[in-house]
Amino acid sequence: MLILGIETTCDETSAAVVEDGLILRSNIVSTQERLHLRFGGVVPEIACRAHVEAVLPAVDRALEDARIILREIDAIAVATTPGLIGALLIGLTSAKTLAWLLKVPLLAVNHLHAHIFASKLEFGHSLQFPTISLLVSGGHTSLYLSQSETQHLLLGATLDDAVGEAFDKVAKLLGLAYPGGPEIERIAQEGDPTAVPFPRPYLEPGSLDFSFSGLKTAVLYHYQGLQKIKGRLSKKEIADIAASFQEAVVDVLVNKTLLALERHPVKGVVLGGGVACNSRLRNRLAQALENVPVRLYYPPPVLCTDNAAMVAGLGYYEYLEKNLASLEVEAVA
Ligand code: KG4
Ligand code: ZN
Repeated sequence: MLILGIETTCDETSAAVVEDGLILRSNIVSTQERLHLRFGGVVPEIACRAHVEAVLPAVDRALEDARIILREIDAIAVATTPGLIGALLIGLTSAKTLAWLLKVPLLAVNHLHAHIFASKLEFGHSLQFPTISLLVSGGHTSLYLSQSETQHLLLGATLDDAVGEAFDKVAKLLGLAYPGGPEIERIAQEGDPTAVPFPRPYLEPGSLDFSFSGLKTAVLYHYQGLQKIKGRLSKKEIADIAASFQEAVVDVLVNKTLLALERHPVKGVVLGGGVACNSRLRNRLAQALENVPVRLYYPPPVLCTDNAAMVAGLGYYEYLEKNLASLEVEAVA
């Protein structure tokens, strides 16, 4: 079964073809990073307009790469929630139109669950649920007990900033480019993660929720304090702040994942979302799980950040469960 996936929840326009839920035939990602660069974050109106221009060319290229024609598509999957409402509408309207035209089923996919599914594209049937899933992206930070590809019980989520958002804001403060996550990771390699004792926001004991806005403010105060004393910060001082901030975030993410595992002893941990690209997070989680009979799964970077392959793949499992969407289905921001 060939499913065409469409993803336009934020600032990536993506189309992909996946066969039987697991075989990646093509995955075209057209990023808008360049358009949002000078604003230091995604501007929804600009994102929308860019999706309008990019979505059909992305579909064409996805079909071309998969060496098929539109008529060979058996179903269309699209991410309908959560995301920027205008951006979601572009993908959804395109998907509805194509499904209507081809007279094939339409599958509405949850973008966050698709991020978790991304590991299934990499590991295939060797990834078996249930798992504890840590979703870390620019818009979300959540821990799930994932019972199957399509069923995810929310155990905890961020009360304020998402972890990727915190990375992006701290990067902006430090004068680094957007998106900030990869930049922080890059310069943190030159820094000492123990240089600045930033707070670890655990919330009340036992909580599986997250809060990163206080940590972000602590970075701001530390930065301003240093600036007052020294004027311009040296490269090493900036690297130390980046490394110490990253370490505080990773400590919290790793420890909360371990706590979730203690409560729900499953055999696998899945890491997903843009921040799952972060090698410090990957390595520290892998280390923490070394002495427990739990396998860690994460996708390659191209499937960590927003992409339509994860949407098409999860769409197949929604299809198997007969969760077909009607042409009246709506986007939810
Ligand atoms: O999943 P994603 O592509 O979009 C959302 O659904 O939000 O995630 C984008 C986020 C951005 O905040 C970006 O800074 C962050 O992922 N990110 C990283 C890294 N690569 C991307 N954060 C930390 N370290 C990285 N290597
Ligand atoms: Zn995402």
